[in-house]
Order: sequence, then structure tokens, then C-alpha cells
Amino acid sequence: MSTVDALAFYHDPVMLAECLDGLNIKADGTYADCTLGGGGHSCAIANKLSESGTLHAFDRDEEAVAYATRRLAGTKPKFIVHPVRFGELKNEIAPATLDGILYDLGISSHQVDDRSRGFTFVGNNPLDLRMDRREGVSAQQWLMSVSADDLAEALRKNADMDRAFKLATRLVEMAAAIKEEGREILPSDVQAAVEAVFPDKRREINGLLARVFQAVRMEVNGELKEIEDSMRAAVDCLKVGGRLVVMSYHSVEDRCVKQTAAEFEKACICPDHMPVCTCGGNHQRLKKVNRKPILPSDEEIAKNSRARSAKLRVYERV
Ligand SMILES: C[S@@+](CC[C@H](N)C(=O)[O-])C[C@H]1O[C@@H](n2cnc3c(N)ncnc32)[C@H](O)[C@@H]1O
Repeated sequence: MSTVDALAFYHDPVMLAECLDGLNIKADGTYADCTLGGGGHSCAIANKLSESGTLHAFDRDEEAVAYATRRLAGTKPKFIVHPVRFGELKNEIAPATLDGILYDLGISSHQVDDRSRGFTFVGNNPLDLRMDRREGVSAQQWLMSVSADDLAEALRKNADMDRAFKLATRLVEMAAAIKEEGREILPSDVQAAVEAVFPDKRREINGLLARVFQAVRMEVNGELKEIEDSMRAAVDCLKVGGRLVVMSYHSVEDRCVKQTAAEFEKACICPDHMPVCTCGGNHQRLKKVNRKPILPSDEEIAKNSRARSAKLRVYERV
């Protein structure tokens, strides 16, 4: 039995109706789902498109691509899969051709639940944390070679972590000792380091571990740069009136989305010290559709706890 056959459940799409609403789907339009995952959002988008519509889908995880491609086989619209990073958007999609783009950021339930992927601190599988295991360095390799300064910077930037330098120093010492022993770093090793640095926060240990894993995962996958590069390209790929719909799951991701979009929300791009506008004041390319981010309903959170931290931002290309 193939992996795809064996999977009864892959991922429950979050705020599905809200994402479809945000995309404002036209039956014959052209859309891109930049985070295909298990294909939950893509299937729903495809169901709203006719034979003249097109759906492009991106994922850097080959398991997700295999699973979702089978799930979407035989759908009405033209379905084009791009098995690459969404940071490659500008190389894959022509300018001003899309009516809507969706990002459902982060990782899927399947990636977390499959312990052999090394995404979780539940269980004791060696850390990997790469979405695409064919490229880059694993969390293992990265932790074995990073300096305490760089690790501290990653803990601050990717997870707003307190005591970042102290924890980074401890983790780097831990990695050196494990390298010496000739074995792999396990979640229990990371936990011991976190407990040593936060002896006063025993009750919060799972939350702290989750933040360390988030920081390392975001670093080995270059996640913030991917979001920035891809959203900037998305502005070029959208037709005027097209929608940019982005769902994030924690404050660092959301801040990155908000700040990247803000670059395109200003009409005037003159430096702050200029007394009068000389840029022409016509640079705005995105406007917010909703003043505040859309949050999941209590009902959805009760059914799917993964939705609890989701924030959905919707922009229109102007
Ligand atoms: C939250 S899941 C998407 C779930 C999907 N919306 C569904 O309904 O099943 C995020 C997916 O995006 C992929 N992903 C994250 N960052 C990516 C990137 N920079 N390029 C391509 N795929 C990425 C992950 O591999 C994962 O499969």
C-alpha cells in the first residue's frame, strides 16, 4: 500500500469558508494555492471553478504533493502543480495573471503527526524539521554547527524567546557533547536544556519547547524570507482587483505578513524626512479588505484545536 493509500486523514483545512470568501472566486478565474498540504483548501477552490478556470498549487513537501495531486485528480478546472518553494512564485507565474492567491502558512497536521519527519517533541525521534527533506540542512546538522550568537538570534527573531543567549549557549554545548558521543540530537536532549535554563517555568515547559522547535524549524526552512519574497512576488502576479489571502498561526508569522503587506499599502514612498511628496503618491498596490484580521469561530476551535491561533488577512490588489 502506498503512503497516500495508507493516509485516512492528512489535514483539516482551517477557516475554509472565510478563505473562499476572501478569495472572492470567479468560476472562470485563475487562482494559486501556495500551500497545497493535504489539498483541503485547493479542493474547495477547485469545486468553485468551472472547466475554464485554473488552479495552480505549490508545496515544497513531496509527500503533500503526491497526496493532494491524487486527491485533486479529475477536478473540473485545469490543475497545475508546482512542487517547489512558494518563494519561487515569480519564476513560475506570469505577472498580472492571477485572480487570487492563498497562503495557509506553517506545517500540516500530517507533517507533525508523522513522527518520522522529526517535527515534534512528542515521542523521541531525531530532529529534522525540514519541509523538503531533499534540500538544505536538517535541524540536527544545523544545531551541530551553529554558533551561540546565531542560535540566540534565531530564537529571538523566530519565536520572541526570552533568555535567548543563555538557552542558545546551553543548546550549543549540548550539541557539541552529543556530537562527541557520535549520536543524534533527540527532543529529550532539547527538553533537558530548556529545563536547565527555565527551572522556574516547569509548568510552561511544553510551550517553551514548542517555541524552540518553532524557531529552529523556521530557520532551517527559511520561513520568514519565503513569506517576504513570495508576498512581494504575489503583488506582481495578481491582476488589479485580485485577492491576496494569508493565514498565519503565530505572532512572528503574522507580523511578517502585516509588515510585508504594509510596504504596498502606502501611496507615498518618500522618506519620512521629506517635507513634500515627490514620488507622485500613486504607489499603493494593496488595500485591506478587512480592517482587522479574521479569527476562527469558537465552534471551529472546539472542533479543530489547530485553528485556535489562526489569523486571516485579506488584501485586494489596487
Ligand atoms: C498548513 S499546511 C496547508 C494545508 C492545506 N491548506 C490543506 O487544506 O490541507 C502548509 C503547507 O504548506 C507547505 N509549505 C510551507 N511553506 C512552504 C513554502 N515556503 N513553499 C512551499 N510550500 C510550503 C507545507 O509543506 C505544508 O504542506
